[in-house]
Amino acid sequence: MDVGSAALVPRRVSSPAEAREVVEQEGAALVSGILDEDAAMDFGRAMLGDELVRIGRQIEATRARAETEGAVVERQPVDARGRKRQLSRDTTVPMPPHNDGFAFGDEAPDRLFLLQARPARDGGDNFLIDGLALADLLPDDVARFVRTVPVDHSEPGFPQPECSPILRTTPAGRPQVRHHPYLAPALGPDEAAHWPMVRAWLDAVVAARDTGARFRMEAGEMAVVDNYRVFHGRHGYTDPDRLLYSIWGWTTSAVAVPHRVLDIVNPVQPAV
Ligand SMILES: [Fe+2]
Repeated sequence: MDVGSAALVPRRVSSPAEAREVVEQEGAALVSGILDEDAAMDFGRAMLGDELVRIGRQIEATRARAETEGAVVERQPVDARGRKRQLSRDTTVPMPPHNDGFAFGDEAPDRLFLLQARPARDGGDNFLIDGLALADLLPDDVARFVRTVPVDHSEPGFPQPECSPILRTTPAGRPQVRHHPYLAPALGPDEAAHWPMVRAWLDAVVAARDTGARFRMEAGEMAVVDNYRVFHGRHGYTDPDRLLYSIWGWTTSAVAVPHRVLDIVNPVQPAV
């Protein structure tokens, strides 16, 4: 099982219309010449066009911010299962591959814009993993589990109301595949039996990161990502000047669109 083949190096595109088409077909695209966060937002609006519902700034990723926000999360308690939440406080190690906004369940954005404002001088290469391609590489029992068995997508301490399969079809008919390090079986009598399947998925995604292709984004380059299909992250770095902006977009085919700014440090769910 060559899971590394699910790693995706985004194809370079030159216009918002081409970006939309390539992201729909291939899961991600790369654009250049994006001067700042406002230009990134403008590109996103032009690309999503008539599908756009909401677009907004989300994260300014730097080493200093990873350390301060990581310290806040460090003080959050262990949950009832003994799980502890962590942000990627130590930037010298590779990030866990993830969909952005995974803590928010159905409200996670379906489109993601990662603008490399300043690359690290010492690493920080980017990676993308095509979750749909990876699901096709799994052994049959794991592939069946991923597609059919509801699991718990909550982050420790921030429960989500419902379990759902790792790979599901959304009401709009789009595939959505999820990965983050806290995935766990649904609580109940099958929990112990389901752990090996969940673990196999987590291990396959991390192996895809560690054995697959990576790429470097220079200043002004932006990855445009189908956040329902592709997991992202970066390898380790120490450069305090590295700066990457993360912008989240929701389209008319998103499962749910939040009506508030989402706070990843404190990802509480709205009162129903
Ligand atoms: Fe992210």
